[in-house]
Amino acid sequence: MNASSNPIENSFEIAASRCADLTPLVYQRLFETHPETRTMFRSQGSELVMGSMLALTIEAILDFAGEHRGPFRLIACEVVSHDGYGTPRELFIAFFGIIRDTLRELLGNEWSPDIAQAWDTLLVEIDAFAGIAA
Ligand code: HEM
Repeated sequence: MNASSNPIENSFEIAASRCADLTPLVYQRLFETHPETRTMFRSQGSELVMGSMLALTIEAILDFAGEHRGPFRLIACEVVSHDGYGTPRELFIAFFGIIRDTLRELLGNEWSPDIAQAWDTLLVEIDAFAGIAA
């Protein structure tokens, strides 16, 4: 596989070569940094929901950072439906930063200035995009 020229995609590709499934790492970080989220997921079947939520979020991030084909719209839809789940907007947005931090730790010294810059910009843009929807 060729390395992607899109730094966001590239960061996920490097992470995937080091770790088959980001799910446990991301949720461990979420629960440590925002302990109130431990009880927000249903007690039965939460693993499926959490896995699916992360997979869809990553798909939306890649589309948002890439071609804007459609999956990026999930972010605007979910900011509204998460209101219904009792997830404050700041927390909803924090999930993207948690994914970034998980990748940064996994990548170690492969976390390049280009990747760092692209993620900084992306987080600001996602915040603005979700703000329009809310
Ligand atoms: C820390 C922030 C977040 C929290 C605490 C949170 C919480 C939740 C909870 C509790 C559910 C399950 C509702 C149920 O039991 O049916 C859920 C589902 C979901 N969340 Fe989140 N969420 C967060 C961020 C996000 C973000 C940023 C996205 C995507 C942009 C997202 C996308 C989804 C989707 C697509 C589902 C449905 C998953 C499925 O059942 O297939 N969430 N979220």
